[in-house]
This record gives sequence, structure tokens and C-alpha cells, in this order.
Amino acid sequence: MSALRLEPRALAAAADGYRPRLVRVLEMRPEIEARGASRPVTTLVLERGDLDYRPGQFLEASVFGAGEVPISISSPPGLADTLCLTVRAAGLVSSMLARTPAGGRVSVRGPLGNGFPLEEHEGRDVLFVAGGIGLAPLRGLLWEMLLRRERYGRIVLLHGARTPHDLLYGWQWAQWQDAGVELMLSVDAAGPDWLARAEPPRVIGFLTALFPRLDLDPGRTVAFLCGPPAMIHIACGDLVHARGLRPERILVTLERHMKCGVGKCGHCVVVDRYVCMDGPVFRYDELIAMNRIEPPW
Ligand SMILES: Cc1cc2nc3c(=O)[nH]c(=O)nc-3n(C[C@H](O)[C@H](O)[C@H](O)COP(=O)(O)OP(=O)(O)OC[C@H]3O[C@@H](n4cnc5c(N)ncnc54)[C@H](O)[C@@H]3O)c2cc1C
Ligand code: FES
Repeated sequence: MSALRLEPRALAAAADGYRPRLVRVLEMRPEIEARGASRPVTTLVLERGDLDYRPGQFLEASVFGAGEVPISISSPPGLADTLCLTVRAAGLVSSMLARTPAGGRVSVRGPLGNGFPLEEHEGRDVLFVAGGIGLAPLRGLLWEMLLRRERYGRIVLLHGARTPHDLLYGWQWAQWQDAGVELMLSVDAAGPDWLARAEPPRVIGFLTALFPRLDLDPGRTVAFLCGPPAMIHIACGDLVHARGLRPERILVTLERHMKCGVGKCGHCVVVDRYVCMDGPVFRYDELIAMNRIEPPW
């Protein structure tokens, strides 16, 4: 009779992915207030303990009596003994999580998923394309690159949202720009006052409207994208066909509906891949080979 054998990645997931740990909320920082159709967003600063992770990995965070949701770690692993989750109050669990006050406790499993290949792209120019809350997983990577600034060329961040009110981490933009990040903004709708401001450069329209201003060198650029499926679809197509980037130099973090986060329940499966374990970060050429980015494409 053959003995049960677990693959190394399954063993690794078993260590932290199956066992929830209770962590204290050190700070609850409001990022976006509820206004009109805008959902509130807060950043929870959590005690980190011995939790080690890569930018782009996520945690399954649970609220007692409500449920569990996957949330990306939005802080860089190379800094501080805390970690951050930036949570948009989308439904029941995320709304309760986003309201957890300082001193409260949440339960987390993880880190889960593959994270971004940080070292592989050293020496390159870096383009971030972040739609709405999609800036949260990219923020950890951006900060990690700023901590190793000399290892990367240009760092460009394009951030878009529905309205100026929905743009994320405004309090930190100046710090990023001082560190050499070229920041540009887009919103679907805004008043003339917003558009009249010169800094950071901005447009009213789709994020890709900023692409022609970029003057990218496609041979030395890697792009990291996170946002709504429609944005990913259009932005990836534009980067390949109009800007000349190679699909394998475009990395996308997918947000699929998930339950277990450890390859057991099948909720996140796309064709033959588990987004929770094989992703959530995929190269664009992998997504093309999987024949779809997100349903219904
Ligand atoms: C790998 C990963 C990382 C994520 N990182 C973050 C993050 O850093 N910050 C953050 O605020 N959210 C993040 N999300 C999305 C977050 O998990 C969902 O908003 C949350 O699960 C909603 O659960 P709920 O019970 O609050 O709401 P529900 O009532 O379950 O859903 C509310 C609304 O959100 C939609 N929704 C539910 N799950 C998802 C999902 N996985 N992706 C997109 N839409 C969803 C539903 O269709 C519905 O419209 C991430 C999702 C994944 C898979
Ligand atoms: S979320 Fe259960 S298999 Fe991926």
C-alpha cells in the first residue's frame, strides 16, 4: 500500500494556510470615507509576529460569527514589525473587518498564494497600473522596490478610480514622488477644479488614456497590474499591441471568488489552475494560454 505523500507546496500551505492565528489590530486608519456610491476603505495595521511573506501574497482574514475573506497584504515585508491590510467594505465580512478598531483582534490564515517575482525583474523599468482597491496589493511591492531603489530603473505608477474621492493612499503620494516614483492619475468623472491641478499629472477618462504619455522603453519595462477585469483586459491588450511589451513581462494579480485559499474547495479554479495557489499573480502569456483572464472573456 502506498503511503500518503504531500507535495512541498502543499506542506508549506499546511503550515500556515490551515491554522488561523489571532492577531491584534494596532491601528485602524480610514482611507476612503463612505460618500454617495463610494464604499468605505480602511487600512488595518496588524501585529506581524513571525509572519514572513512576499509582496502580492494574501491572507484569509476572518471575523468571528461572520466569515472569512481573502485580503492582500498591502505593506512591504522588508519594513517594520507590523503588516497592513487595506479593506474595502464590499459586503458583510469585509465591512465588519474594515470596522475593527485598534485593540480589536482578527484571525488570519496565511500567507497564501505565490506573490510577485520581485528579484526576477531587477534592473528593469517598472510600470504599475492600479485600478481602485487594486492599488492595495501593488503598494507592498512598490514599497519593497523603493527599499531596494538602486536595483530598479524608472518606477511609474498609474492609479485610476471612479472619482477623485475614490483614489487610494493620497496621504502617501508625496512620499512616493520624493522617492522618484512618476505618479499619474485618472478618474472616470471629476469637476474642473480637479483637472486644473498640475500635480500629479491627471486625466478624466480610462487609465489607458495615460499610456501615450509614458514614453516607455518596451525592451526594459515590466508591468504589474491589478484592478477590475475590464481594466486588466484593455490595459494588457494596449501594453502588448500599442506599447510593444512582451506578454511575459506583464504580471497581473487576479481577484477570483475564493473560499479555502489552499487548493481544496475549487471555488477559484480557472481552466486547470487554482488562483489561490498557482496565483493570484499570473503572467499575461499564462493568462492567454489559459484562454481567458476572467469570465466572461
Ligand atoms: C487574492 C485576493 C485578494 C484580495 N485583496 C483584497 C484587498 O486587499 N482589499 C479588499 O478590499 N478586497 C480584496 N479582495 C476582495 C475581497 O476578498 C472581497 O471584497 C470580499 O471577499 C467580499 O466579501 P464580503 O463577505 O464582504 O462580501 P460579499 O457579500 O461576499 O460580496 C460583496 C461584493 O463583492 C464581490 N466579491 C466577493 N468576493 C470577491 C472577490 N474575491 N473579488 C472581487 N469581488 C468579490 C461580490 O460579488 C459582491 O458584489 C481580494 C480578493 C482576492 C481573491
Ligand atoms: S479557494 Fe479553494 S481551491 Fe482556491
